[in-house]
Amino acid sequence: MLFKKLASLALLAAAVTAQAPKGKAFDHIFIVFLENTDYDLANSDPNLRSLFSSGVVLNNFHGVCHPSQPNYFAAIAGDYFDYDDDSSHNLSTSYKTVVDLLEAEGLTWRTYQENMPSVCYTGSSSRSLYYRKHNPFISFDLISKDANRCKNVVPSTQLQADLDAGYLPTPSIPPTSKTMVTIPLKWFSGFLAPLLANPTFNNNTLVVLTFDEADDYTDETNHILGMLLGDAVKDIKNTVDSTFYTHYSLISTVTSNWGLGNLGRNDINKPLSNVFSFVAALTGYQNVDVTNPPPLN
Ligand SMILES: *[C@@H]1O[C@H](CO)[C@@H](O)[C@H](O)[C@H]1NC(C)=O
Ligand SMILES: *[C@@H]1O[C@H](CO)[C@@H](O)[C@H](O)[C@H]1NC(C)=O
Repeated sequence: MLFKKLASLALLAAAVTAQAPKGKAFDHIFIVFLENTDYDLANSDPNLRSLFSSGVVLNNFHGVCHPSQPNYFAAIAGDYFDYDDDSSHNLSTSYKTVVDLLEAEGLTWRTYQENMPSVCYTGSSSRSLYYRKHNPFISFDLISKDANRCKNVVPSTQLQADLDAGYLPTPSIPPTSKTMVTIPLKWFSGFLAPLLANPTFNNNTLVVLTFDEADDYTDETNHILGMLLGDAVKDIKNTVDSTFYTHYSLISTVTSNWGLGNLGRNDINKPLSNVFSFVAALTGYQNVDVTNPPPLN
């Protein structure tokens, strides 16, 4: 089977405080990252294909660099700051992320990291397949060195406890995991299906399934598969959206949905930051056609 590993899920969700803005297209977003898989391979995988009729297939989605880690930086910070490795880094307090934009408007978030040994764990790996390179939150000092924030960087095992307690942060960012190739089927049936059936979880919720990067580093377009699931897309399920998206679209979709500020980076770099079109239609965001993507590898 396919995936080398199932990577990082971050649930970027927003649970809502009294003064927080109301999302125009969804109330929660849960983003799941899988690891290194070329578009063609993902698109032909029977497990993934079995989900196609339940959601929207994004067939023009792109990673922004290599290897894994800088793609995760990009997905929460709007840039990868020329990092080109999977080593441990601490990005200073001058580097804001989407967390700052969410909190500024009273939205909540939590990241559920698969196999993470403990809350706010800063080590680079563990014996249970946790890797820091798939958990961008812990690399930003504005999160890792702020105890109040870092308590939201949690092992994925906390997700069920949160749901049982009726808590679903507005954006959540899913578990990081590295699971070998036989796991995906188990993961889909054991993890994703119960979430989608859980009324606390699937309550005007957008689930984004994507990959950190293409496996073929010679693919200049870094083409990966994306999917939208959850009841936020129930009226447009079994459709394909061919708009050009990148990891920066994750941030611009979040900021557009809730009318948040921006990071002033590639999250506002129009060619790279198209907003998922069903959201753009509700927020008035103008997407641009991209016929010749810039090199993204
Ligand atoms: C990052 O900061 C932590 C303290 O929070 C420290 O233990 C670690 O060595 C630092 N890592 C790097 C790569 O600077
Ligand atoms: C769904 O969300 C609405 C509005 O935020 C809330 O009132 C309701 O309790 C939620 N339902 C569940 C099952 O959590």
